Amino acid sequence: MKIYMTEDYQTMSRKAANILSAQIILKPNSVLGLATGSTPVGMYKQLVTWYEKGDLDFAEIKTVNLDEYVGLEPTHEQSYRYFMEEHLFSRVNINPANTNVPDGLAADPQAECKWYNQVIRQMGGIDIQVLGMGRNGHIGFNEPGDAFELETHVVDLTESTIEANARFFASRDDVPRQAMSMGIKSIMMAKKILLMVSGEDKADAVKRAFVGPVTPQVPASILQLHPYVTLVGDKAALSKLMEAKQ
Ligand code: GLP
Repeated sequence: MKIYMTEDYQTMSRKAANILSAQIILKPNSVLGLATGSTPVGMYKQLVTWYEKGDLDFAEIKTVNLDEYVGLEPTHEQSYRYFMEEHLFSRVNINPANTNVPDGLAADPQAECKWYNQVIRQMGGIDIQVLGMGRNGHIGFNEPGDAFELETHVVDLTESTIEANARFFASRDDVPRQAMSMGIKSIMMAKKILLMVSGEDKADAVKRAFVGPVTPQVPASILQLHPYVTLVGDKAALSKLMEAKQ
């Protein structure tokens, strides 16, 4: 695993954007696995700036997002489809038909998950998967559990995640209780992984993911087994991992 430790959130965002843009430049028809949450916002902003300067071209890029809340329409401000439109898709020359996010309003979420697996397969796999990490070590919405869920599935969100994400909603009661998430196998099949972490509240999860056993109780720990992981984090988020490694 390659680790880049940066001073702060801004430099973390720029480093991650550098890595993603190298991918886009070297393979203009890349399949990008994308993530939401507050962590990658600065990276998307940087990519948009480079696109506006003429340094990046998304015309042939295809994307597949990690997850979506069950029950939120694509125009809902907290839906992940809305997030992606806001932060990236509407700001660059990507073909909307080449962007994929599970449909939060699907009448049958299980069937939607099956369809999403097909989409990932038809794209021929993911070239680089961007990941953030939950405070409990979740990736996508793969919550801690007794087994690693392999493919796209419906998840009951844990109290910890509902609590962490409540800040984006009017009240805690408005946070959806379920989501659809790409599974661990689909994530692990990506050729490269770009994991982004920022802030002290992630330091414990980062340490538990990379020091200690690979366990579904800390979903991100599976990344220890991936051959090509780049971890980009600010000092605060990497502090406990670095301490443990000394
Ligand atoms: C959410 C998302 C994850 C994200 C995580 C961390 O639950 N499903 O993909 O990585 O939260 O979010 P943040 O970056 O806001 O800390």
